[in-house]
Amino acid sequence: MTSSKISEKDKALGRNYDRAAWFYEKSAKIYSTNQIRKTKQYQMQHIEPGDTVLYLGAGAGEDAVMAARHGAKVTCIDISQGMLEQVQKKLDEENLSAELVCVNAYDHDRIGHYDVVAANYFLNVFRRDDMAKMMAHTATFVRDGGKYLIADVSTAQGNPLAKAFNIFYLKLAMGSFWLMGLVPWHENYDYPAFFSDAGLNWEHTEYFRFAKKGPILFQSIVARRC
Ligand SMILES: C[S@@+](CC[C@H](N)C(=O)[O-])C[C@H]1O[C@@H](n2cnc3c(N)ncnc32)[C@H](O)[C@@H]1O
Repeated sequence: MTSSKISEKDKALGRNYDRAAWFYEKSAKIYSTNQIRKTKQYQMQHIEPGDTVLYLGAGAGEDAVMAARHGAKVTCIDISQGMLEQVQKKLDEENLSAELVCVNAYDHDRIGHYDVVAANYFLNVFRRDDMAKMMAHTATFVRDGGKYLIADVSTAQGNPLAKAFNIFYLKLAMGSFWLMGLVPWHENYDYPAFFSDAGLNWEHTEYFRFAKKGPILFQSIVARRC
């Protein structure tokens, strides 16, 4: 069931994402040699059946559906109605349910409500200052001791060649998103560097490589609300 609390101002941005809704996950799968999905699958070991889980900027929701299948009580928020329609379609196919809310994450206000909040490929759509504000705001949705999970692109790691590949490959994706008006041009973020300001403690980072064996491109981070 989808409800909408979207302001007129946010509708325009939502429409840009609506246009990408049908191909977003398909292209992410090809582009990432399926590693984007793996970063989200990794999170399932950090979610217990019965947990309340919030997906921020849920997109087409492959991860939200994994969590619902796993027995979690899932809420998805997104600025794009088109993205949420994709989530609903997937839920219907498996006779699963979740709460879907079309809203700007800045306007969501369930402080301390969730066992787990997942920000997957979401914080990466903001400029640095906005990203830090968004992280700090959305971290307040996690109950004390609950988890804040981030699956996203990784900063460059390894030898100079691996680092150069990481930068080239990830900028290629950012460039196409930028051309579609979906993201501003920005650096890839070292998320744990922002955790103390957001009231989070870093616990673990799992890295994911291009085609499993190549340079590190993606990461799945586990943090806890302190
Ligand atoms: C790059 S996509 C990631 C989608 C999904 N989390 C995934 O991992 O595939 C970013 C998503 O965030 C949504 N979004 C962007 N700004 C938002 C905001 N301020 N509040 C809520 N959702 C937002 C977009 O509509 C889009 O679905």
